[in-house]
Amino acid sequence: MGFVTQRLCSILVTFLNFFSCLCVANSGQYHSSHLKLGIQSQVKSCNVYEGTWVFDDSYPLYNSSACPHIRKEFDCHYYGRPDSLYLKYRWQPKECDIPRFDGQDFLQRLKGKKIMFIGDSTTLNQRESLVCMLHAAVPDSKIIEEKNSLYSNTTYEDYGVSILLFTSNFLVDIEVEKIGRVLKLDSMKNGNIWKDMDVLVFNTWLWWNRTGPFKHWDYIEDGGKVLEDMDRMDAFRKGLTTWAKWVDTYVDPGKTKVLYRGISPTHYDVTGLGKARSDKLRKETTPINGSTYPTGLPPASYIVKDVLSTIKKPVQLFDITTLSQLRKDAHPAAYNVFKGMDCTHWCVAGLPDTWNQLLYIALTN
Ligand SMILES: *[C@@H]1O[C@H](CO)[C@@H](O)[C@H](O)[C@H]1NC(C)=O
Ligand SMILES: *[C@@H]1O[C@H](CO)[C@@H](O)[C@H](O)[C@H]1NC(C)=O
Ligand SMILES: *[C@@H]1O[C@H](CO)[C@@H](O)[C@H](O)[C@H]1NC(C)=O
Ligand SMILES: *[C@@H]1O[C@H](CO)[C@@H](O)[C@H](O)[C@H]1NC(C)=O
Repeated sequence: MGFVTQRLCSILVTFLNFFSCLCVANSGQYHSSHLKLGIQSQVKSCNVYEGTWVFDDSYPLYNSSACPHIRKEFDCHYYGRPDSLYLKYRWQPKECDIPRFDGQDFLQRLKGKKIMFIGDSTTLNQRESLVCMLHAAVPDSKIIEEKNSLYSNTTYEDYGVSILLFTSNFLVDIEVEKIGRVLKLDSMKNGNIWKDMDVLVFNTWLWWNRTGPFKHWDYIEDGGKVLEDMDRMDAFRKGLTTWAKWVDTYVDPGKTKVLYRGISPTHYDVTGLGKARSDKLRKETTPINGSTYPTGLPPASYIVKDVLSTIKKPVQLFDITTLSQLRKDAHPAAYNVFKGMDCTHWCVAGLPDTWNQLLYIALTN
């Protein structure tokens, strides 16, 4: 059954990959003079990624039924999720309070800026949440949506803020050659588009450890050698290092702010909680108590930290891994259009709203 649900999830992820439409694009300028200094100095001195989930009846931040934009993979409420307690948790950092998300303030501070999200379907998941959060804040603001073969662009015209989504499962390239699809650990050709943005939010991991029909490549090219396969953690490290070198070579820190969103954890294996079967996830309705996950961080997150530490230009780790691990209750489970078990993505409204609240802090701090 565990295997079957894994397969269903893989199918689901494949589906998301095919239909990923590109999304919000942003063209805004943010002025640090607009910062609310009280909030800023308080947040600056504390690690906002360390804390606990607390019940807060004033949540969620918006009514998901009123959001015109939730994809059917993430719209848990619409697809019958019976409980709503999971919507009522607020992230509470240990050492400080964080400001509530203020969509109007977000758009004003980022006026004229382009924000691009680059990554896999968990990035799409985050973008869906951000669009709902902004819609709830400025429901009458005119939105222009554009799409081309590489990315989608959602512009809040009154603010000149574009939020763009560039889907890339590996960041590095996959090219179709005579022998088949080749994952090229040393090649990243899309950077020209990325470097014109004001804010870049990257992530990758989900696809690096996939096998069988869901791995999306036939060969790996590493240092001029074509291989049938290799240790996936090594491959991930190499691919991410190619990205890190790109940041050091091409990003102009005076223009572009770079963030790397930490690993979005899955909950297929919840043995750390004394439960082995992912179908039980459906019955999870509350976060984990405390501030760490019983089985520790996913191994790939150490690679992320390692590689980021080699980058000389300023790159911020947008470190949502642990706080997301605590949210075993926040996945769609079977409450999506497929009725397929999804322990990878997250309900919207839900956990990604907190990612965006923290993004708001990271961008305005
Ligand atoms: C959410 O919005 C829907 C549709 O607009 C409405 O029917 C429902 O009552 C709202 N729920 C809450 C809790 O406000
Ligand atoms: C996004 O759309 C806006 C509004 O049409 C446009 O002005 C902007 O150039 C677009 N940005 C990109 C990168 O395509
Ligand atoms: C990668 O996948 C294999 C099996 O598909 C699994 O045993 C292993 O734990 C995974 N590795 C990581 C780092 O997730
Ligand atoms: C843990 O959760 C339970 C409810 O599930 C609650 O009663 C208890 O206070 C929590 N403990 C801590 C330390 O937060």
